Amino acid sequence: MARPLKDLLVDYSNQVDAQLEQLLPEASGPAEALFAAMRYSVFNGGKRLRPALCFAAAEAIGGGNTNRTGSTAKVAAAVEAIHAYSLIHDDLPAMDDDDLRRGKPTCHIQFGEATAILAGDALQSLAFQQLTELTDLPAETRLELVSMLSRYAGCAGMVTGQAIDLAATGQALQLEQLKTMHSYKTGALIEASVLMGAIATGAASQQQLDALKQFAGAIGLAFQIQDDILDVESSTEQLGKQQGSDVANDKSTYTSILGLEQAREQAAERYQQSIASLELFAERAEPLRQLASFIVNRAY
Ligand code: IPE
Ligand code: IPE
Ligand code: MG
Ligand code: MG
Ligand code: MG
Repeated sequence: MARPLKDLLVDYSNQVDAQLEQLLPEASGPAEALFAAMRYSVFNGGKRLRPALCFAAAEAIGGGNTNRTGSTAKVAAAVEAIHAYSLIHDDLPAMDDDDLRRGKPTCHIQFGEATAILAGDALQSLAFQQLTELTDLPAETRLELVSMLSRYAGCAGMVTGQAIDLAATGQALQLEQLKTMHSYKTGALIEASVLMGAIATGAASQQQLDALKQFAGAIGLAFQIQDDILDVESSTEQLGKQQGSDVANDKSTYTSILGLEQAREQAAERYQQSIASLELFAERAEPLRQLASFIVNRAY
């Protein structure tokens, strides 16, 4: 029988948190403020969805290397470190200029802009360091993971998405352009999470990876559509971040372009596509299915 979603999320969170605890430097010494800012931004109550996707993708493959759980936790920690860095920088005054994240002051409000920029930089480096330290995996697999994360996080992924987002601020994008922006800025790291979780098992076939790529592409887009919807219809308290930030910043979002109703329809359509692409995994993909459902139904 499938584990309840809540148990699944707690289990995956605990595993990645233990790994992040090992990875992050203690907040002491001459760079104490930097290390404290990194810890503040990692251990402040994120949903740990990308790590969960890593673990669930590894479960969908099954089998794999002898220390599958350990390797998956390291990959998940790497992805979460990139995510935490992306949020610190996303909130900066030069970007979205947000004061609240996960119910607390954003990193730059708490520690100052310079420290926040450095905390993001250092988290990004730590992510790649973590992948090189996947000692249970052959060197080629580690290299493949490093290459993959660098592409999905950088010019072929998240950073390019953020650049498109900034350039598009104040303009009404066409739906196709919006979809491209979302696929880069959010979809890419979600795709990386799923594919890297699968690859780190050392047991994924090309056919399985192709199916997971389809799944991740669809659910990644659904994730950002839901984020856009929540910016309109949720509350600051529930979100832990300023509701209405997109509207205040004149961002192009699914809701600004299509309206709430059609944005919801688009998210539902992507969810259906994501589920359809998991057929070949049968019941082993149950955790991925549960996460997909959470992504489109979440209220925070
Ligand atoms: C928020 O991501 C940023 C986006 C990419 C839209 P999450 O909603 O996963 O944020 P946390 O990690 O749970 O705070
Ligand atoms: C951020 O998108 C995506 C990132 C790459 C960090 P948003 O700007 O919509 O994220 P929130 O709403 O601030 O979490
Ligand atoms: Mg943003
Ligand atoms: Mg933002
Ligand atoms: Mg948003």
